[in-house]
Amino acid sequence: MAPLKALGGTSDILPGEVGAWQRLEVQARRILHLYRYQEIRTPLIEEAAVFTTSLGEAAEIVTKQMYLFEDRGGRSVALRPEGTASVVRAFVEHGLDKTASVSRFYYVGPMFRAERPQAGRRRQFHQLGVEVFASAGPYQDVEVLSLLHRLLEGWGLSAWVLKLNSLGCREDRKRIVERVRAKLAPHRTKLCEDCQARLEKNPLRILDCKEKGCVELSRGVDLLEAICPTCRQHFSQVTETLKALQIPFERDPHLVRGLDYYTRTAFEVVHGGLGAQNALGGGGRYDGLVEQMGGTAIPAIGFAVGLERVLMALEVDRPNEAPEPLSSVYVAAVSPAEIPSALSLAEEFRRSGVAAFVNLEERPLGRQLKQAAGMQAKYALILGQEEIKEGAVTVRDMNSGEQHRESRSAVVEKMKSQLRAESK
Ligand code: HAM
Repeated sequence: MAPLKALGGTSDILPGEVGAWQRLEVQARRILHLYRYQEIRTPLIEEAAVFTTSLGEAAEIVTKQMYLFEDRGGRSVALRPEGTASVVRAFVEHGLDKTASVSRFYYVGPMFRAERPQAGRRRQFHQLGVEVFASAGPYQDVEVLSLLHRLLEGWGLSAWVLKLNSLGCREDRKRIVERVRAKLAPHRTKLCEDCQARLEKNPLRILDCKEKGCVELSRGVDLLEAICPTCRQHFSQVTETLKALQIPFERDPHLVRGLDYYTRTAFEVVHGGLGAQNALGGGGRYDGLVEQMGGTAIPAIGFAVGLERVLMALEVDRPNEAPEPLSSVYVAAVSPAEIPSALSLAEEFRRSGVAAFVNLEERPLGRQLKQAAGMQAKYALILGQEEIKEGAVTVRDMNSGEQHRESRSAVVEKMKSQLRAESK
């Protein structure tokens, strides 16, 4: 049988890569804790209506990209294409909209979109997202943007740009959609094929199409000029406060986002080193969604960052990041007779918090040392007949190749303090 492969657009995260993922998560959790966010874990599959009613029937994520199927009970279910709708569903289902005791959520996990795979665009990808259910005021937007800034900075990224726009309130949206449609309809044939369809269903999306003809035609449309004075005031308070907090941003009058639920402030973070799929993350306000999904009228805002793209961007911004060593010490047995002693020494290291790998096969010492080097172990601890007889261990510094003997009873404590001193 030919070996089976992972589905196109999905990837295994191999042990050599997983450390980078864990580092992102550990740093993110620390920062999220400082902002008093709490983790939520929602199912990967949901009733399809969770997404169709919230993201919009015309949103491309729903029409073209959702993994949609009938389950054995004939229900229409979907693999989650994003996290916001699921969090709102859970927020309402558990009555949290009535108690307001927990209102700041974050999540980390896989999302699924049936897109054509390419660099930075996967069918299973991972997002770290946050959702806040609280204030409608502009300072809430600023705090969320400040958290996004801290996360990217904490991960060590540097070359990103935060792009900001306002989509106005629901009433503004209806007016703007009509206005954009009326402006572009006479030029329908100059639009790309996708945008000709968008003209009927979702004309705002034409504004962020990258096709030359569409870019030309949508030039001159500025959403900020079209929104109502209250929304304009909200946006100017957001931008003024961002400036006061020294959080850099750029205004992008064509930023519209692909999902229906957004109102007012919308944003995206792009990174110059990512190529065509340059969005590291995006988000915005969605003040009507909780009520629309059956809850009380609570305003909300959030964002999600694509972790595959963060890792790609880190390779551009910090290319020489050293991989984490797999183990600090490698315990070698000169012959099979010493394997039990080697096992017991390795266990002692692990109990005292030092990562240890132990050779369990009959293998020449030279090959064991090669393996230790491949694992970036700092020290190899060698046990042969002689060492066992003397109650000692040979310690080999894997960098310099220098060797010396230590007593078996003291070696774990000694190596532990040495490794600690070296990591300072
Ligand atoms: P989104 O812009 O659709 O927003 O996705 C957020 C991020 O997920 C993107 O900027 C990108 O980094 C990553 N991403 C999306 N699709 C893919 C893909 N196929 N492959 C790799 N990465 C991808 C949302 O999902 C909203 N739920 C964000 C939000 C939260 N808005 C309010 N709260």
